[in-house]
Amino acid sequence: MSGRLRPLLALNWKLQKGPAEARAWAKELLERLPENRGADLAVLAPFVSLPAVASVLAGSPVAYGSQDVSAEAKGAFTGEVAAAWLKELDCAYTVIGHSERREYHGESDQTAGRKVLAAQANGLTPILCVGEKLPTREAGEAVTFTLAQLERALQDVPVTSSKSLVVAYEPIWAIGTGRTATPDDAEQMGVAMRGFLKQRYGEATAAQVRLLYGGSVKPDNIAALCARQDVDGALVGGASLELDSTLKMLAALS
Ligand code: PGA
Repeated sequence: MSGRLRPLLALNWKLQKGPAEARAWAKELLERLPENRGADLAVLAPFVSLPAVASVLAGSPVAYGSQDVSAEAKGAFTGEVAAAWLKELDCAYTVIGHSERREYHGESDQTAGRKVLAAQANGLTPILCVGEKLPTREAGEAVTFTLAQLERALQDVPVTSSKSLVVAYEPIWAIGTGRTATPDDAEQMGVAMRGFLKQRYGEATAAQVRLLYGGSVKPDNIAALCARQDVDGALVGGASLELDSTLKMLAALS
């Protein structure tokens, strides 16, 4: 919580929760959702589960979205899903450039940038993921590397408001490993990313962009990680699957 922006707790389910399980989870979430929340919540479900999630959460205070989106609008792109169709389901967000997409599907910063544009053009807020591998951090180059990723991905991307962009810093060595960045690491990267955004888009716009931390975030570390300057919430994988731990994280952020 930077003190400036309302935090966002974004739940990245990955390849988990098909339609039936996702619907049941969303229903129970609404039943147990506390009235006073100090953070926004977004469920990032598998494509095929989005209609089920939408049938429960549309019009509720809980936002939802996808974990990827096509850079293309339509055509011969087997397996792809267009941003316009996600908007049809009233998705608010889409994750773009997650390290697992980069690692297993060869996605580049340039592709991520094109996907960000497709999301923006269809009224979705992109959650652009960046972050370094362990050797890069050990070489002391984490900030330089991550800012270069941002620069390449955002090369042709306009940002005008909080809805244009969310950036998630996810050091790859911290994802699913139980090894978390320290609050100092998260803050250092948050400050550096804000600095980059200020240079690129001007102070007033940069101040509206939410900067998340992701990588082994859990109920017992989320408050410390998000208490620092320029860490405006978290992108959570493993700990987002259980409703109990999601509600604990929401309470800890509030
Ligand atoms: P994790 O995943 O919380 O399981 O480390 C985070 C992510 O990959 O978004």
